[in-house]
Amino acid sequence: MPADSLTRTFGVALGVSLACSFLVSISVVSLKPIQLENEEIAKTRTVFTDLDVIGDKASIADIREIVDSVLVDLAAGEIVPEEAYTNTLNVIGFDIETMAEHPEYGREIPADRDLAKIRRVPRYMVVHLVKKQGRITKYLLPVYGSGLYSTLYGYLALGRDLKTIEGITFYKHAETPGLGGEIDNPAWKTLWKGKQAFDEKGNVRIEIVHGRVDRSKPDAKYKIDGISGATYTARGVNQLVRFWLSEQGFGPFIRKQKAKLKKSGEKTS
Ligand SMILES: Cc1cc2nc3c(=O)[nH]c(=O)nc-3n(C[C@H](O)[C@H](O)[C@H](O)COP(=O)(O)O)c2cc1C
Repeated sequence: MPADSLTRTFGVALGVSLACSFLVSISVVSLKPIQLENEEIAKTRTVFTDLDVIGDKASIADIREIVDSVLVDLAAGEIVPEEAYTNTLNVIGFDIETMAEHPEYGREIPADRDLAKIRRVPRYMVVHLVKKQGRITKYLLPVYGSGLYSTLYGYLALGRDLKTIEGITFYKHAETPGLGGEIDNPAWKTLWKGKQAFDEKGNVRIEIVHGRVDRSKPDAKYKIDGISGATYTARGVNQLVRFWLSEQGFGPFIRKQKAKLKKSGEKTS
């Protein structure tokens, strides 16, 4: 066949375009997980900023360097090894509501333990571990529960000692602006910093009171001021925080992490 024949020209063009589309498909498929992970990070960026994990100018690379997102098996209190991840059970694309309703990956909460009024919970949750020089400095625990008009979704940050609260933030709710919506007020969120979630015996003690905390009392370290005009939303926050710190939530994980700290010689109480 002559080199400049029409058939040959079309053949070469077809071959080149097939090779190119193959290369494009390969790169799309191989880059997909990275793209999805970057999308996840972008979604939680405001949470990370709000909980003083990063500055608002941090790049995704900066975030990746200091935040390790892991799946925690709530009942076992253990971090799930990545080899056990599946398409559904994965840090990437993890959706709390879908997982709570899932027949295998979700479970019902006994009514008398359902402080957060959520009926079902995932068996696993994605926890963000904030690290500095290989050491965990903060635990960002996802928390959710019923407010007055909506389900409140947020994160509670615990310090390295797993007792001291470093902050709280809500990224989704539909409470009334100016009333229940005051859970987003930075002045109220600041009240949480430095409060103690547990007492020396490991009992959950953190509590939102009705009105103001008496700061002269020794147990003030466990108490947060209520929100005027939003008693029901504040009660919802109180219940959901207590639920997620309990045995139904992150209780087993917190205990095991504390035991690891103790074993390493660090003081935890
Ligand atoms: C239109 C409207 C919206 C309200 N939104 C909320 C709300 O988001 N969260 C809340 O706790 N209370 C809300 N309330 C107020 C509650 O009905 C209730 O009065 C209040 O929580 C009591 O708080 P207090 O004990 O501080 O007065 C709303 C009331 C009205 C009339």
